[in-house]
Amino acid sequence: MISLKTPDEMAAMRVAGRLMADFLNACCAQVRPGVTTGEIDTFARAYLGTLGDGTAVSGCLGYHGYPGALCISVNEEVIHGIPGSRVLQRGDLVSLDVCGFYHGFCGDNTRTLVVGGPEALTPDTRRLLRVTRHSLEAAVKAIRPGIRLSDVSHVIEKICLDGGCTVVREFTGHGLGRNLHEDPPVPNYGKPGRGPYLHEGMTLAIEPMVCLGKPAIRTRADGWTVEARDGRPSAHFEYTVAVLREGAEILTPWYEADPWSESWMAE
Ligand code: MF3
Ligand code: CO
Repeated sequence: MISLKTPDEMAAMRVAGRLMADFLNACCAQVRPGVTTGEIDTFARAYLGTLGDGTAVSGCLGYHGYPGALCISVNEEVIHGIPGSRVLQRGDLVSLDVCGFYHGFCGDNTRTLVVGGPEALTPDTRRLLRVTRHSLEAAVKAIRPGIRLSDVSHVIEKICLDGGCTVVREFTGHGLGRNLHEDPPVPNYGKPGRGPYLHEGMTLAIEPMVCLGKPAIRTRADGWTVEARDGRPSAHFEYTVAVLREGAEILTPWYEADPWSESWMAE
């Protein structure tokens, strides 16, 4: 069942979303050569307590036993990388996926960055980031009441394939609200004109998971980390969005603190 948020609930989603975007950006600011993913997790746990009135909680920690306060996925790791002793190096592609609850409502968002800044990108990783980010932004622009869910999915898939990348099919975006995962699943592929109609009041996590090589994935022996089988890099960008009368509102506006956004989009 897809829950539609009342204006009051939407206001609470907006507050939670902003805090989770702040949380994500603060974690991203920790990314630099020589830092371990575990150190970013330690930072995240401390930073959570400084958000809002101090009652925000991670949506990752304890989720089906997940041990981290956030997911950190490096290079060929697509999603659900567990923070630990890995040392980040210049040129690594790092996805930080941050979700959490504030006053009972959830925000979920993800950025992929390159360690060392944009100069550390190769032509291929630059294309991967640009295409993935572009697919997310185009999906947001497409959203409005009355279109169907797979119209959004199709926009994402087309941009990724046209850009010479591939889309992971085993994991999807999702509705969210009082829970991290609600109906409907939001695939990153599909023919247009299928699935539920979008209605004002829906809240969705849109999250393309995109590969430079083949889209086949496997889960590592740690039970969580999902990696590209061919070992090639992967990227992931995510917003929580609200479907409003005029179109989508981004509830997790992490782009406000992303100095690389404009350069990617201008290319
Ligand atoms: N943010 C992830 C999502 O969109 C949630 C990860 S749950 C975890 O589903 F347990 F893996 F952290
Ligand atoms: Co999500």
